[in-house]
Amino acid sequence: MPNIMIVDDEEPIAWGLRRAFEREKYRVGVAASAEDGLAQARKNPPDVVFLDVRLPGMDGLTALAELRAIAPAAAVVVMTAHGNLNTAVKAVEGGAFDYLAKPFDLAQAIDAAKRAITRPQDPPASQPGLAHEDIDPSPDAIVGRSPGVQAVFKRIALVAPTNACVLITGESGTGKELVARAVHANSPRRNKPFLPVHVAALNPNLVESELFGHTRGAFTGADRPRDGLLALADGGTVFLDELADIPLPVQAKLLRVLERQEVIPVGGGEPQTVNVRIVSATHADLSAAVRDGTFRHDLFYRLNVYPIHLPPLRDRIDDIPALAEHFLRRFGVANPAEVLPADTRAFLKSRPWPGNVRELRNALEHAAIEARGGPLRPEHFPEPAAAAGPVGVSERLRSLVTEWVRERTRQKDGEPAELHQQLLDTVEPALLDEVLRQLDGNRLVAARWLGLARATVRKMIRKHHPAADEPDDEG
Ligand SMILES: Nc1ncnc2c1ncn2[C@@H]1O[C@H](COP(=O)(O)OP(=O)(O)OP(=O)(O)O)[C@@H](O)[C@H]1O
Ligand SMILES: [Mg+2]
Repeated sequence: MPNIMIVDDEEPIAWGLRRAFEREKYRVGVAASAEDGLAQARKNPPDVVFLDVRLPGMDGLTALAELRAIAPAAAVVVMTAHGNLNTAVKAVEGGAFDYLAKPFDLAQAIDAAKRAITRPQDPPASQPGLAHEDIDPSPDAIVGRSPGVQAVFKRIALVAPTNACVLITGESGTGKELVARAVHANSPRRNKPFLPVHVAALNPNLVESELFGHTRGAFTGADRPRDGLLALADGGTVFLDELADIPLPVQAKLLRVLERQEVIPVGGGEPQTVNVRIVSATHADLSAAVRDGTFRHDLFYRLNVYPIHLPPLRDRIDDIPALAEHFLRRFGVANPAEVLPADTRAFLKSRPWPGNVRELRNALEHAAIEARGGPLRPEHFPEPAAAAGPVGVSERLRSLVTEWVRERTRQKDGEPAELHQQLLDTVEPALLDEVLRQLDGNRLVAARWLGLARATVRKMIRKHHPAADEPDDEG
């Protein structure tokens, strides 16, 4: 009969867990403090311990280290309602078997117990905990206590010590880059480089040489050999941002890097061995890109070994006040809690944040300036960014253009086409015709709506409709 110990000073929780475990036919002991739990464990080593973090007297994370010494075979499930990334990291570093963010369902607890009981023995060696601080005011701190963010903390803590590729997904402004940095900062690579590569911002012709380096004379202008970003990050982490924008030919090469841990510079030559961990991010639906062939499925599976999804801010509005205080502190406001009256907090929680945490941050900066040191009021905040939700027509147009460009550039052995002119030739007739139609063919008014000179409009009409007669456009 498995032997379970619950260490929690909150009676209702201890009671609920005990009932649930007894129903599973486990033997259950309860301790209301870490000291008591350790004493019980010495007498009767448990198989599984459910350990709270905030306890009167010794805290749970300190007790974790002692428990691991007293009862090394016990699986410890750390429970907390106050977790931050450091709690999760410390729990994993301290050898915890699992981490439950309160409130959790009894079903989750039973599931954790079952997994703990049936787990293969040989727990990972425990490491001394790092000296993390509890409140982290640094720019890289990930603020949030909501279940969605707690789940993210746990995933970061579990994956950070490994070499696994991590794919971070989530809407724009949800903190993907922050999470990528946290994965690196909590990994054994933390003293080596973290190199973010914003693929979309790279010159498309140079993406390959940026990533893989080039040999001397590889192309015009390459008058000396150069290491690529992957080689520069050797021993560290490369953060590939906006993964969906990586051109297909580069995707093939990247796959090779991942499979063989080596890069071949543009222009050929000896493969260089590199040791990098790849963390990538995207706000696009990559599985859709895989389906329509703009993203290689083999690369997708290779990069998506361990996904971390960031929930949008609307799904964690309870984090908004803490985030607001965090940003205000970072803007140099000495007393952030005081400049945020209750009605402002309520307002911040109720309005939409289509740009997520980034929009919140920018809005607070704006409001702090307007409020000139006084309390922040709703009228100090800018309007929400362009509506999210159902995608607007402009947004759709932009993504159509993206798709169009991808399709053109995929014909990779084609000569560079005059994409700009091609695009204009494609959309200009539609623009011209519809404006004219809406304005009953009045060229003078159409020119005004288009913001173009009448002569230009006349030329456009002649170009796209060579057969059209040309009434006097004064008329
Ligand atoms: N949980 C958080 N706690 C504190 N700051 C946060 C949090 N989430 C995001 N931020 C801040 O919000 C801003 C946007 O975050 P980040 O750049 O990581 O977003 P992103 O998901 O990479 O967005 P995009 O897809 O647009 O690149 C940054 O200033 C970041 O520091
Ligand atoms: Mg980003």
